[in-house]
Amino acid sequence: MNKTKKNCYGICFLISIAINILLSIYLYAGGGRWGAKNLPEISFRPALTWSEKAAAEAEAVAAISCSGHGRAFLDGSISDQGQPVCECYDCYGGTDCSERSPGCAADADSGDPIFLEPFWMQNAAESSIVIPGWHRMSYRYEDNTMMSVELEKYIRKLHSIVGNAITEGRYMVFGIGSSQLLSAAVYALSSENSSSPSNVLATIPFYPMYKAQPMLFNSENFQFKGDTNSWQSYNSTNNIDVIEFVTSPNNPDGELKKSVIGRKTIYDHAYFWPHFTPITGPSDHDLMIFTLSKLTGHAGARFGYAQVSLFHLCLTLARYYTYDTIIYRWAIIKDKDVYEKVLNYIFLADLGISKDTQLRVLKLLKVAIEGDGKPLFEFAYNKMRERWEMLTFVFSRSTRFSIQKRHPLHCNFFNKTRQSSPAYAWVKCEREEDDDCSAVLEAGKIISRRGSQFSADDRYTRLSLIKSQDDFELLLQRLRELVSLENDSIGTM
Ligand SMILES: Cc1ncc(COP(=O)(O)O)c(C=O)c1O
Repeated sequence: MNKTKKNCYGICFLISIAINILLSIYLYAGGGRWGAKNLPEISFRPALTWSEKAAAEAEAVAAISCSGHGRAFLDGSISDQGQPVCECYDCYGGTDCSERSPGCAADADSGDPIFLEPFWMQNAAESSIVIPGWHRMSYRYEDNTMMSVELEKYIRKLHSIVGNAITEGRYMVFGIGSSQLLSAAVYALSSENSSSPSNVLATIPFYPMYKAQPMLFNSENFQFKGDTNSWQSYNSTNNIDVIEFVTSPNNPDGELKKSVIGRKTIYDHAYFWPHFTPITGPSDHDLMIFTLSKLTGHAGARFGYAQVSLFHLCLTLARYYTYDTIIYRWAIIKDKDVYEKVLNYIFLADLGISKDTQLRVLKLLKVAIEGDGKPLFEFAYNKMRERWEMLTFVFSRSTRFSIQKRHPLHCNFFNKTRQSSPAYAWVKCEREEDDDCSAVLEAGKIISRRGSQFSADDRYTRLSLIKSQDDFELLLQRLRELVSLENDSIGTM
């Protein structure tokens, strides 16, 4: 009897040791997934790893619905109860963004590309990143530059898929949004002789930054001189240095612009993507600027890039964006004054592009090129096409307002002939007395961007079509109301 009891204790002891060993393996050797089906997950789960903890925080904040009329963000405000606060879209309020203010104006002013947000929410798993606290703390990458080689590779791949730019044999420079590259490009192309500064020109209507930046920098080497066509009628001589901005498609009217003067050009291709225009062939200019803002919709990431065909021009731009490399590349810069100016610029500007941003852009571009770009560009183009169809219908009922003509062209990317679907509607008030079109729309509860902001007549005004679905639907509603006032019979539209 005693012997049996002893055996029983021995067996129990051995079983207990075996269970302890198994549990230790489960807890400490990454066995969290082992046996998950049979064991209650919470009670046996080890402490979260750093990436799981980051993911859990991100998922928790993403799960806050804000009634579909707002978003909560990890870096947003926190309520007194310690919860992330909903940031509501225009015209919505309340703690969960469920309250709509009835008389609210439709804000179609800014070019915030939120229309692509649903695509990224549908592709959350593929497009999200985790950044550890020690991620790329250095100013430089391993090759001593400030630009990710892998990212550059993906940008080239994207262009070859879309067919909108020649990249072979071209140099690439990254910037903080394309806005920064616009001024870097003017700087790089400008005359080094301050007694004959370069004349910076653009064709009306043009993106206001082309004028605002040179005016802010107030440089001796370049000056903004206004519209290409008026400049040409006053200057027949060839000995003035000219830098011309060519925006294709154009902001605000969506036109595929060409150079008017035909000398040094900066091609701003912010909108040269299949969502906005048929891609008729690859652009092949000396200096082309692109931006992530209107490609994937990540304006907040502040990432743009320039492609440069001339070697010396690339080096001048590269000097603008690199710090340490400038020292061993200095041999190619002959003028000490230029060197000091560049060095000063770099200290004052930015010391390169955020490495966190470059990592994020890389991840987003990997999604963008999936399925040869079809999922992203089809989503984006369909959304823009739909919006244009609805908008065109409303304006077709009006004699008081008109919008720009759109041109069908063959799109190599979609392999079909299609209309352009610009980011903005360029509205004209046709009645003589409506010489301030923005004010006319404002009276109808529509906020637009007035023509004079683009150096054009105030008879024109710009409506943004790339904001959120809520914003677009409210814009359409306000436009219908305004147009219905012209003729009561249209009120049933
Ligand atoms: C024609 C044009 N170029 C450049 C930009 C600036 O883009 P980013 O966000 O890259 O600075 C914009 C922004 O609206 C634009 O319309």
